[in-house]
Amino acid sequence: MNDISVQAMRRLSAAGGVEMPAMDLSKPLSEPEKQLVRDAFLEHHILVFRNQKLSKEAQAAFTEQFGELEDHVVRQHDGSKTPQVHTVSNLDADGKPSYKPLTHGNYFWHTDKSYHAKPSLATLLHAIELPTEGGNTQFANTGLAYESLPEERKQAFADLKVVHSWEANRRNTKNKPATEEEKRERPPVTHPLIRTHPETGKKVLYVGIHTSHIVGKSMEESRELLDELADFCAQDEFVYSHEWQPGDLVMWDNRTTMHRAIANYSMNAERRILHRTVIKGDDIPH
Ligand code: SIN
Repeated sequence: MNDISVQAMRRLSAAGGVEMPAMDLSKPLSEPEKQLVRDAFLEHHILVFRNQKLSKEAQAAFTEQFGELEDHVVRQHDGSKTPQVHTVSNLDADGKPSYKPLTHGNYFWHTDKSYHAKPSLATLLHAIELPTEGGNTQFANTGLAYESLPEERKQAFADLKVVHSWEANRRNTKNKPATEEEKRERPPVTHPLIRTHPETGKKVLYVGIHTSHIVGKSMEESRELLDELADFCAQDEFVYSHEWQPGDLVMWDNRTTMHRAIANYSMNAERRILHRTVIKGDDIPH
């Protein structure tokens, strides 16, 4: 086991995020190390491990120590299945850095796969190539945002249900519309607007770009409230903005955060390449 201690952790913002003690993630963790990671994950929501150099296999192996690797329904540009360890980049179909990369859904506030009945528990991103500056990933603490709502709004939202769908994602991100096959593969799901974190018991606002509408409200009224709540969560006081360093691996809890990449870099000139793995989550009780 590495020489690790809770004292060696450094909090990164009031909204969450912690720099973990030096650990070599390419080797299996000891039980105390895994416990340290689990505890920090629940307390700080976003874990930053510096100076890693992980192959795709090593990233998969590290991820699997904390849950089951998730498959991805979304197909790659060439129609092939997206691998469990896949690449997030700003490259276009010709492999060049671009303002219009093949996928840009990561630039909108979201919590991973909320359009599934069992949305993703955690996501891990490992920096492979970074722009000289910028290309941050921002995290909004949706639990802190919920806590700071006025009591009457908490009451008003308590029983609201929200429909999330892949189709809505495509519409909200102005991407090409979901195909009939995609709609069949990913039918809409309904989740509570106020989600209870299954491990901490804390309540969070469960919103983001995958939301379609609030059950029983018009599209227009729903969009207004859902966008307002996503903006509310994204206020500076609830956000940790991660400035990537070479070798970073960042692991976050999707059950109490939303995230997005920001285009504060030369998107059409510099490469931003990260490897991504996701851990399966559980049903959300209604
Ligand atoms: C993601 O949405 O999972 C990736 C975020 C990023 O590109 O920083």
